[in-house]
Amino acid sequence: MLGAALLTLPPVEHVLAEGADSGDAALIERGRYLVRIAGCNDCHTPGYAQSGGQVPEPLWLTGDQLGWHGAWGTTYPTNLRLYMQGISVDEWLQQARTRQLRPPMPWFALRDMTEEDLRAIYSLVRHLGPAGEPVPAYVPPEQEPVGPLVRFPLGSQ
Ligand code: HEC
Repeated sequence: MLGAALLTLPPVEHVLAEGADSGDAALIERGRYLVRIAGCNDCHTPGYAQSGGQVPEPLWLTGDQLGWHGAWGTTYPTNLRLYMQGISVDEWLQQARTRQLRPPMPWFALRDMTEEDLRAIYSLVRHLGPAGEPVPAYVPPEQEPVGPLVRFPLGSQ
């Protein structure tokens, strides 16, 4: 009987993994909170701002075909669901701290975030997994982009 009872206990590794999972769950939840309040969804999720945030989570951060056009050319909010799959958390931290992206991406918000917040965003996006299609490539100022655009007044930069 004792043998049977022991067999029903979960293996130690399983218990430890569950402990790690609950830490991850807290980090994922913080990431969920951050992408909602830090504006990431506003630009990187199609229709998010226009619908008052009524976009289901499986579609979050899949990038947008809506171009942002100004003196810098035309930029498209990257599909972060695909982007995050290709980089390790250490690469993410390094990039978030050092990369200066084109407008209107607030790269300075990533630079100034705490490491824990950056890890939380990474955990959420990896948890959601890959989805959607890549967005159009950056279009330099001398070329006319096709498709829908938000036009910034030229000379505003
Ligand atoms: C006002 C719109 C806007 C907001 C808000 C915004 N982004 Fe972006 N983001 C963009 C655009 C546009 C690009 C493409 C920039 C470029 O081409 O240089 C971009 C690029 C990026 C990239 C670079 C990916 C690559 O292709 O190398 C990352 C990472 C990123 N955003 C993460 C975030 C996160 C995380 C948040 C929330 C804290 C956020 N963005 C908020 C518009 C936005």
